[in-house]
Amino acid sequence: MKFSRVLFLLVICAAMLGPMGCAQRPVALSTPGSGSNVDAKTGKTYQDLIVGYAQIGAESEWRAANTISIKETAEHLGVELRFLDAQQKQENQIEAVRKLIIQKVDVIGISPIVETGWDEVFQEAKDAGIPIILVDRRATVPDNLYVSYLGSDFLEEGRKAARVMATLVNGKANIVELVGTIGSAPANDRYTGFREILKNYPGMQIIDSQSGDFTRARGKEVMVTFLQKYGKNITAVYAHNDDMALGAIEAVKARGLSGIAIIGFDALPEALAQVRDGGMTATIEQFPGKQSSMGVQTLVKFLKDGTKPDPKIILLTPQAVTKDNLNIAERLNEVK
Ligand code: AHR
Repeated sequence: MKFSRVLFLLVICAAMLGPMGCAQRPVALSTPGSGSNVDAKTGKTYQDLIVGYAQIGAESEWRAANTISIKETAEHLGVELRFLDAQQKQENQIEAVRKLIIQKVDVIGISPIVETGWDEVFQEAKDAGIPIILVDRRATVPDNLYVSYLGSDFLEEGRKAARVMATLVNGKANIVELVGTIGSAPANDRYTGFREILKNYPGMQIIDSQSGDFTRARGKEVMVTFLQKYGKNITAVYAHNDDMALGAIEAVKARGLSGIAIIGFDALPEALAQVRDGGMTATIEQFPGKQSSMGVQTLVKFLKDGTKPDPKIILLTPQAVTKDNLNIAERLNEVK
């Protein structure tokens, strides 16, 4: 089962249980149509539920795949999904949450585009009795304004990327950094985690750092300016996602350069193909399936006998994929 599906199940779980969330009370879980998915307290089935989802946009291939998975899961479970796309603007995403509150959905899932600025609208949802589930990205809000947060350990991802890069460049590199969306949880943590480890490697320095907003087009543009400024002095690229890394590869190729170590995140099929063919050094995979099966087991146990999912915040551990362990990548079968 895919990571987003698990997240979605947890969203459903919260909806079935009402504002108190998954950790409060067990409920029967079954596949749609089996007739036994009625919640004892609310009398609701999956088919009665309306799930609201305030998505960031379609900035990356990871996001596009995430959106498809959310829609497929809703269809599979038979819940009604009200899906709103904020087109990468926080004001649109806040507006989307307000629309979902007015529509009286049972639960709101959201991947907050940036970490801050959510207190007011989350409080509005709470006042309306609608639980908020943070999916993929966290928000800096008081604990009582959301039911659960499920996402990747972005800080550890940044650390892992630095360790892998250090090994692959033998502790010596002039790095340019393509930062994700400024103020977003993955950009903040991938920035910080990477630097934490870099302190141990005096031969590795970040010579420049600019935002490429998690998009391939911006990643390429920023890389073009880096190459104009530093040319052959650049020996490594640290991109906060694969889309920007792939954009950087285009810029490097267009300049006729090679031999630059490039690291990204997401393990997109195209990035895995680059790792296989030597265009990219590594990508950080979040093992959606493997990790989610653990999450499902925890959830199912809770649903069955009331064992509480603990903790409220579930962080998935990342893995680095290089040429040497490509076989561990989940989306390898999609690689062309
Ligand atoms: O929040 C996860 C990040 O958001 C992904 O790594 C990136 O590709 C996406 O846009």
